[in-house]
Formats: sequence, structure tokens, C-alpha cells
Amino acid sequence: MPDPKVDLVQVAQHVGRPSRKTCGDCHFSGGGADAVKHADMSGVLYKPSREDDFHMGGLDFSCQERHKTKNHKIAGRSSSVAVVEGVLSCRDCHTDKPHYGLHLLDHHLNTHCEHIDCNTCHTPLYARGKATKARWDWSTAGDKKRKPKKDKYGKPDYHWKKGDFLHVQNAKPAYAWYDDRMKRYLVGDKVEDLDSVIKITEPVGDFRDPVAKITPFKIMYGKQAADPETGYLLAPHLFGPGGYWKTLDWQQSFADGMKAHNLDYSGKYKWVETEMYWRVEHGIAPREMSLTCVQCHSSLKEEKTCNRCHRDSRDVDFKKLANKGSEEQKRYFLGESQKLINSTDYLDFKKLGYKGDPIVFGGRFKKLLFGN
Ligand code: HEC
Ligand code: HEC
Ligand code: HEC
Ligand code: HEC
Ligand code: HEC
Repeated sequence: MPDPKVDLVQVAQHVGRPSRKTCGDCHFSGGGADAVKHADMSGVLYKPSREDDFHMGGLDFSCQERHKTKNHKIAGRSSSVAVVEGVLSCRDCHTDKPHYGLHLLDHHLNTHCEHIDCNTCHTPLYARGKATKARWDWSTAGDKKRKPKKDKYGKPDYHWKKGDFLHVQNAKPAYAWYDDRMKRYLVGDKVEDLDSVIKITEPVGDFRDPVAKITPFKIMYGKQAADPETGYLLAPHLFGPGGYWKTLDWQQSFADGMKAHNLDYSGKYKWVETEMYWRVEHGIAPREMSLTCVQCHSSLKEEKTCNRCHRDSRDVDFKKLANKGSEEQKRYFLGESQKLINSTDYLDFKKLGYKGDPIVFGGRFKKLLFGN
């Protein structure tokens, strides 16, 4: 430091406000290339359309417009790292009751904000328009003779350096209760049971936790190495002299990698299944393409909708209200995801702790007096 190859005069003469390219050249390529790691950030955000990201495409926001910075500290938090340089929330700009109250749906939308994260309704898909890696199996790496095949998104299913891959595009997120805290596996943590799936990051929160909200995630599935004697996940040494990509020797790679972390390596390794939760936060769709009532509540799909609870009125078309947005969604739900427009099971209520659709069975703290 500083690297003698860097022309510091040239650098000093080009100090200015960061552009989307400044941030994106690192963050859109997290994980080694474009659209690998994050669920909701990729090269699409250099020049997004209004559908790709309402704030950046529709309102031409820069990154720092929302990621407020002070003394070079950038507000916002990644699911993967335990560092935070300032908190950031949709509510900072939109308040706890973001729906203006001008429309017949706004009352219920605002009450939903106590239980449901904004992105659940406003970012119904991730990897929209560009495939992202969803599974990465390191155990098959090392076969230089194997010819990678292109999957339906045009992405290779294999690389001898890295193993097998699975990609997804226009994908429906996984949903979990989340109270703004993440449990994280940190290097050196011992795993008790290597035969179960190891959560590298996992949202904290549950059905009974009043501050927790139903939040969308991309789950990155992996197969990677652990030491059955110590219980550590193993850090491989990959590139440079002696690295796996030169030697194709996992033993040496793990021995070097763990030594660099000052951790023991028993000399034995085993492939284990891992999951890593990545929060979906960017890529807000225009309002008219948000989830419709029916996409979560099957109870509003049939003949009775709002009039399960409200008196009919000649001036109001309840059916239309419960499905509001399904027409506009055709511009948002691309390709195979079109079939999600008229689905009614966006949330698996039972898996989240409900007895079933809350309109029929009641909310988590509140029993409805009517609705059946
Ligand atoms: C030179 C590469 C690089 C550039 C340029 C860059 N970042 Fe980062 N940023 C990182 C790395 C590395 C991390 C650590 C996160 C990780 O390991 O995934 C990070 C973390 C973050 C975090 C998560 C908070 C935290 O402390 O973990 C936010 C938010 C963020 N960056 C926003 C920005 C914004 C906004 C810009 C543009 C003004 C920007 N970054 C430019 C590399 C970069
Ligand atoms: C830095 C301030 C700021 C933050 C933070 C912010 N927004 Fe916005 N948002 C705006 C502004 C300004 C508008 C345009 C005015 C309006 O519609 O209220 C807007 C508009 C919207 C719209 C309406 C889109 C349309 O079609 O009219 C939605 C939906 C929305 N934001 C959701 C979110 C969500 C969800 C988050 C958090 C992930 C968020 N916003 C964070 C400033 C912000
Ligand atoms: C249950 C789903 C749901 C949740 C949760 C939700 N929204 Fe909305 N939001 C919608 C729908 C649907 C619309 C469009 C309403 C319409 O067109 O009548 C909308 C509209 C908006 C608008 C445009 C203003 C308006 O009144 O139409 C903004 C801004 C907005 N939402 C922000 C947010 C923010 C911020 C959060 C989290 C604090 C949030 N929303 C949570 C479904 C939701
Ligand atoms: C993302 C899925 C989702 C969407 C979209 C959604 N809801 Fe809900 N709704 C829920 C959940 C979850 C609860 C239970 C909240 C609780 O535990 O109290 C609920 C509860 C309700 C309730 C009973 C509780 C109350 O607020 O009185 C009504 C009524 C309701 N929703 C109506 C609507 C209407 C109308 C719409 C469309 C504007 C809508 N929902 C859109 C998930 C959703
Ligand atoms: C399960 C019963 C139930 C269903 C279904 C339901 N609502 Fe409601 N709604 C309520 C209750 C109860 C209230 C009174 C306030 C509260 O507890 O949230 C209410 C309040 C409202 C309000 C605010 C009225 C005011 O005076 O401020 C509006 C507007 C509204 N609902 C519209 C709708 C629309 C539109 C639908 C269908 C898309 C719908 N509701 C479906 C139970 C329901």
C-alpha cells in the first residue's frame, strides 16, 4: 500500500460523486461475476426500467440516495456480514403507514405492514430478467475433461474450478419471519451435527414475535467441505501458488486455508449441505404490479371476496379490487413466472405458523369475529 502501479495523481483528479457504476462494479458482481450472489442486484441495475426497479428506473435514484453516507460510512446492511454502518429502512421515507389512504385497499395494506415486510408485496420476484446462482456444489469440482452444458438461461452447469451450478430466474422468493437480526456462521464456529443442513445465515424471528415480519429471501444452497473431527466448515485455498485451482488437491487446499485462519485441520473432510439466506430488498416493482389480495388469500378468490365481511355496494366491484393489479402484472412476471399471476399460494400460511388463510382462521394475535 499504495500499489506502485496506481497513478495517485490521476486518482486524486477524478474524485467525484459515486455513480451506480462505482458501487455496481463491485456489488453487482458479488460472488465472482455478474448476478451470482445477491438475489436482487445485478448488471440490470446499471440502466433499469421502471419495472426492474421503481426507485432507480422510475425515479432515477442513485445508490447513495437511499444508502445515506456520513464520513464514508455507508448505511445499509448485507445478510452475509455482521458489520453495519448505519441502519436503513423503507419506513425512513414512507413511514409506518405508507399507503396514502386514498384508495379502498389502503386501510388493509397499512395494517398488513405490522406483519409483512414491504418487499414481500413490492418485490414479488428475484433475479428478474437475469439468472442468478441458486445452488453451488463444490464436491464435483476438479474434472477438467467434463464439458459444461448450457442450462435454459444460457448459463453453464459446471466449471472444473468450482463444481456444479443451478441457476434460477424470475424466481419466487422463500418467505420467513425476520426481526432484523441474522444468525450467522462465522469462521471457527463448531457445527454439532454435520448430517443436517447447516445454515450459514438464517433470519431470526417467529410467528409469536411481534416485531418479526414475513420477509422474502433467496436461499443459496451449497455443498461444501467440513472437518468431521473439529466440526469446522473448511476454508479452501483456491488461487495462487499451491491453491486448489493449480493443484486440484483438496487436502493441501484445506490445510493451507485453515492455517491462514489459525484453525486446526484434522486431515479429514466431508461434503455437507449448506443454506444461506439473502434478503430481497432491491427491485421494487411499480405499485400497480404489487401482489394482489388474491395471490395470498385463496379465501378471496371465489364468489365471496370483501363481502365476506363488508356489505355490498352498487358502486364498488369487490372482485375487481381483490384482483387489482393482475392485469398490470403481465409486464412484471416474465417467462415462466407468468403462472404466478393467478396463483393463490404466494405464502404458505401453514409453514409460517398459521392454521391456514388468516381471513378464515384468524391472524397471529387477533381472532376475527366474522369472515368464515
Ligand atoms: C471496491 C469494491 C466496492 C465498492 C466500489 C463498493 N463496495 Fe460496498 N462493499 C464491498 C464489500 C467487499 C463489502 C462487504 C460485504 C460482503 O462481504 O459481501 C461491502 C459492503 C457494503 C454494504 C453492506 C454493509 C456492510 O457494512 O456490510 C453496503 C450497504 C454497501 N457496501 C454499499 C455500497 C455503496 C452504496 C457503494 C457505492 C457508493 C459501494 N458499496 C461501493 C465492496 C465495495
Ligand atoms: C430515500 C427515500 C426512500 C426510501 C428509503 C424508499 N423509498 Fe419508495 N419512494 C420514494 C419516493 C420519493 C417515491 C415517489 C413518491 C411516492 O410514490 O410516494 C417512492 C415511491 C415508492 C413506491 C410507489 C411506486 C409507484 O408505482 O408509484 C413504492 C411501492 C415504494 N416507493 C416502495 C418502497 C419500498 C418497499 C422501500 C424499501 C425497500 C422504499 N420504497 C424505500 C422514496 C423512498
Ligand atoms: C400486503 C401487501 C403490501 C405490503 C405489506 C405493503 N404494500 Fe405498499 N402497496 C401494495 C399495493 C397492492 C399497492 C397498490 C395499491 C393500489 O394501487 O391501490 C401499494 C402501494 C404502495 C405505495 C404507493 C402509494 C399508494 O398508496 O398507492 C407505496 C409508496 C407503498 N405501497 C409503499 C410500501 C411500503 C414502504 C411498505 C412497507 C412499510 C409497503 N408498501 C407494504 C401492497 C403492499
Ligand atoms: C403477502 C401476502 C398477503 C397479501 C398480498 C395480502 N394479505 Fe391479507 N393477510 C396476510 C397475512 C399474513 C395476514 C395475517 C396477519 C396477522 O397475523 O394478523 C393477513 C390478514 C388479513 C385480514 C385479517 C386481518 C385484518 O387485517 O383484519 C384481512 C381482512 C386481509 N388480510 C385482507 C387483505 C386484503 C384486502 C388484501 C389486498 C389489499 C390482502 N389481505 C393482501 C397476507 C396477505
Ligand atoms: C375478514 C374480514 C374482512 C375482509 C375479507 C375485508 N375486510 Fe375490510 N375491514 C375489515 C374490518 C374488521 C375492518 C375494520 C377495521 C379493522 O379492524 O381493520 C375493515 C376496514 C376496511 C376499510 C376501512 C373502513 C373505514 O371506515 O376506515 C376499508 C376501506 C376496507 N376494509 C376495504 C376492504 C376491501 C376493499 C376488501 C376486499 C378487497 C376488504 N376490506 C376485505 C374486515 C375485512
